Amino acid sequence: MMGLRIQVFLLSVWFQFSVIAATTDPRDFGVLQSLRNGWQNTPPTWRSQDPCSNWDGIECVDSRVTSITLSSIGLTGQLSSDITALSELQILDLSYNTELTGTLPPSIGDLKKLTNLILIGCSFHGPIPDSIGSLPQLFYLSINLNKFSGPIPPSIGNLSRLFWLDLADNQLSGQIPVSDGTSSGLDMLVNTEHFHLGNNQLSGEIPDKLFNSDMALKHVLFENNSLTGMIPSSLGLAKKLEVIRFDRNSITGPVPRTLSNLTSIQQLFLSNNKLNGSIPSLAGMNFLSYLDTSNNSFNASEVPLWFSSLLSLTTLIMENTQLQGQVPSVLFSLPNLQTVVFKNNNLSGTLNISTSNSNQLQSIDLRNNSISDFPGSAGAGGINITLDANPICEVSGEVKAYCMKSQSNSSYSTPLNNCQRVSCGSGQISSPTCKCAYPYTGILNFRAPSFSDLENTTYYTTLEGSLTQSFQSHQLPVDSVSLSNPRKNLIEYLQLSLEIFPSGQDHFNWTGISSLGFALSNQTYKPPRGFEPYFFFANPYPNFAGDSTGSNKSTSIGIIIGAAVGGSVLLFLLLLAGVYAYRQKRKAERATDQNQNPFASWDPNKNNGSIPQVKGTRSFSFEELSKYSNKFSDDIGSGGYGKVYRGTLPTGEQIAIKRAQQGSMQGGLEFKTEIELLSRVHHKNVVRLLGFCFQQGEQMLIYDFVPNGSLKDNLSGKSGMRLDWTRRLKIALGAARGLAYLHELADPPIIHRDVKSTNILLDEQLNARVADFGLSKLLFDSEKSHVTTQVKGTLGYLDPEYYMTNQLTEKSDVYSFGVMMLELITARSPIERGKNIVREMKMAINKEKDLYSLSELIDPNIGLGTTLKGFEQFVDLAMKCVEESGADRPTMSEVVKKIENILELAGLNPNAESATTSATYEEASKGNFHHPYSNEAFVYSGSFVSPKIEPH
Ligand SMILES: *[C@@H]1O[C@H](CO)[C@@H](O)[C@H](O)[C@H]1NC(C)=O
Ligand SMILES: *[C@@H]1O[C@H](CO)[C@@H](O)[C@H](O)[C@H]1NC(C)=O
Ligand SMILES: *[C@@H]1O[C@H](CO)[C@@H](O)[C@H](O)[C@H]1NC(C)=O
Ligand SMILES: *[C@@H]1O[C@H](CO)[C@@H](O)[C@H](O)[C@H]1NC(C)=O
Ligand SMILES: *[C@@H]1O[C@H](CO)[C@@H](O)[C@H](O)[C@H]1NC(C)=O
Repeated sequence: MMGLRIQVFLLSVWFQFSVIAATTDPRDFGVLQSLRNGWQNTPPTWRSQDPCSNWDGIECVDSRVTSITLSSIGLTGQLSSDITALSELQILDLSYNTELTGTLPPSIGDLKKLTNLILIGCSFHGPIPDSIGSLPQLFYLSINLNKFSGPIPPSIGNLSRLFWLDLADNQLSGQIPVSDGTSSGLDMLVNTEHFHLGNNQLSGEIPDKLFNSDMALKHVLFENNSLTGMIPSSLGLAKKLEVIRFDRNSITGPVPRTLSNLTSIQQLFLSNNKLNGSIPSLAGMNFLSYLDTSNNSFNASEVPLWFSSLLSLTTLIMENTQLQGQVPSVLFSLPNLQTVVFKNNNLSGTLNISTSNSNQLQSIDLRNNSISDFPGSAGAGGINITLDANPICEVSGEVKAYCMKSQSNSSYSTPLNNCQRVSCGSGQISSPTCKCAYPYTGILNFRAPSFSDLENTTYYTTLEGSLTQSFQSHQLPVDSVSLSNPRKNLIEYLQLSLEIFPSGQDHFNWTGISSLGFALSNQTYKPPRGFEPYFFFANPYPNFAGDSTGSNKSTSIGIIIGAAVGGSVLLFLLLLAGVYAYRQKRKAERATDQNQNPFASWDPNKNNGSIPQVKGTRSFSFEELSKYSNKFSDDIGSGGYGKVYRGTLPTGEQIAIKRAQQGSMQGGLEFKTEIELLSRVHHKNVVRLLGFCFQQGEQMLIYDFVPNGSLKDNLSGKSGMRLDWTRRLKIALGAARGLAYLHELADPPIIHRDVKSTNILLDEQLNARVADFGLSKLLFDSEKSHVTTQVKGTLGYLDPEYYMTNQLTEKSDVYSFGVMMLELITARSPIERGKNIVREMKMAINKEKDLYSLSELIDPNIGLGTTLKGFEQFVDLAMKCVEESGADRPTMSEVVKKIENILELAGLNPNAESATTSATYEEASKGNFHHPYSNEAFVYSGSFVSPKIEPH
């Protein structure tokens, strides 16, 4: 009986082989095996015998592999140089596999048929090989969002068919190569419409040779590099240009007159350079919609009148551009104008916007000018006008709305399509059509949007329509898409969170994900006018997270199959039959396993190899946490990453649960790395990680609950606690010690990157505890999108040097810490009413005078009137920390020493415990409390008569 079965089976295997031999060319099969061996998390179909007939992501023509598209499936490992033997390969897309690393093999130049090379958002590093210039068919090259370094190979100039060149968001350095007698350069790329080189470290001048009149160039994006020299006048030859981003470099000199020859320009970014001379005339740029010339050194001038002829203009940003005189009212008659930003100039006289007769105008920011009159302000109802820090706002009396800093909050999210939202379980999300499913998610980044009114939902509905329509017309299994949370990042990219929902079933299969990823990575999807250019950065699809079902284990079988194809010896077949039967059985077992819980994504208890090495932290299940937090009912904070909930362990211990939301999740491996890192951090001034949860599509981190809230809340008086001078010194010391530990003693060292008063928590004794470090990847500005922005942090606290150079060092934390010290003194936000606290302080300090003449700026709750011992030293230290150049700032441990000295100067013991328990703290208000280290503490001002200690 048994014997017969095996024979029948064997026959069928034999039969399969005949088919295989006819389908995939054995050479290509060998290469694919080698690729598979180098990767984890390949699709399950990659265990079967015939790549050309059923491997996900592989396409063949005449038995030869022509296309490999495997985006966003959590591939890890390296790209084997064997790939270069796939001599018929045309398309290679491995985008959004953030753990795919290693270098790009120099033999890549052997792929003579390659048309599309797409490696967006992986972790490739090292130089871009010179041989990339020997791909004669290459049409589309996108290797942005990696860690490539070194120069741009001049050989790229040989890619005569190239249409799209995207090298942005890497660490490329050196000059932009142009051809000379002996070598090639980018000037030869006459058919290329896109030069996307932003967010690198390119230096030197923009070569005059780069531009010529034969070019098809439409988008030239050089933003956020270190380019110097002048804008070459040859730029005016590239007549087809539509978008120019030269902002955030060190470009000097006057803008060449030839710029005005570029009459197709739609978006022009020249901000944050060192341009001088007069503001260039752009009359004739009839399609210009977005202009930003901020922060340059142009000659002082009036607002030029030629603006009023630019009928397409939506956005005019000329911050700190030495504008003077009256704002011409004719400007506001532009029919499409949405936003005017003229802040930090010397504009004076009367503001007259009565000429505005469109409903498009949304915001006018004239902060910090000399406007003295604003007649007709009553009629400006729908427009957000900010005249803060102008003479008109300095008259006393009732504070006018236009004197306050307004923040536009665009909180769009796709509305439901005439249906009732359903509540979904375990990682599923309700789609706009009210179905529960696992969406494919990520962030759309628009690098130069033509508009600035983020509150006008028309833009988003148009985008949704075009996305859905495009996916469906390309036969992708998409039911609906949802957009949410429009925002601008630090370099003015418009970012939108995108969720794509599957049709027919509740999840995408492997092919579905790879094809969707490709539609976006290859720019097959074309956005509507005004949204170009864009790039997408996908999250790994949770369906596959940690599916480590043995792509490696299948290796040996692969080899056997390979050999069998060649030799077809019966012995091999016998062996094969056995292995095959065994695997079929295992597969069946696995299938039942998975059916019970098809989305039991990475369960650390099951995956032996991948249990995080976590000393002192534990893995919580979703159910446990749901119970401890009363179904996540008590949320105590939120941010881009998601929300923080309070909970109580069965032991009574209070916990804070940080729960990442869809769209801000990281890959399983990254999450694991993060936990391993955080679990090694132990210091009394640093918040302790208790555990984590990685189940049911959730990523959560569990911390000690720190009861007295953040320093920010306490400074603002929100918590009902008064922080006197000595307490502030103690808090500064605690926070400094926590940071010094992270910088100098933690292994590996950790740069916090987001030091600010909301990230310093206070415990019962008012000891400072540093929170939220290392979580870069859990935040919306995740590692990868941090590469997009290059810079992560919070405005006002952000180290200007880091911002300019993208070089992150410990000294960036020192800067932020210095800003926080100033906050401790003033209780002001670092940017308040358009004023930067660092600059304000610098201007106000007079070292000749008592308290450096800062009493106007000092927070009255500090206990003014008492002696603030060590105050001047504290200010000196703070100003040292906010020095422009990192090299001039002290290290955190030097800061610790200095603050200890200041405490001693104030007669306090820097090593005493901070305050008291909350119980004794309450007693204090009854008057029988004796402060351990000060006789000037605890003078409650009226509003704090009964301090309420309310953990929140
Ligand atoms: C381009 O600009 C230059 C200088 O402004 C001018 O002399 C030239 O005629 C312009 N060329 C064209 C084709 O408009
Ligand atoms: C929103 O934008 C659309 C397209 O630009 C425009 O037609 C419409 O008038 C705008 N709506 C408002 C309220 O500004
Ligand atoms: C002005 O800003 C406020 C927020 O400060 C916002 O609620 C309001 O919608 C804005 N108004 C307009 C017309 O954009
Ligand atoms: C994957 O999904 C697509 C579209 O939903 C479907 O056509 C295809 O057959 C599926 N593939 C597999 C292997 O199930
Ligand atoms: C890739 O995108 C281009 C447009 O950018 C399109 O013409 C081409 O067909 C796409 N390739 C595939 C294989 O879909």
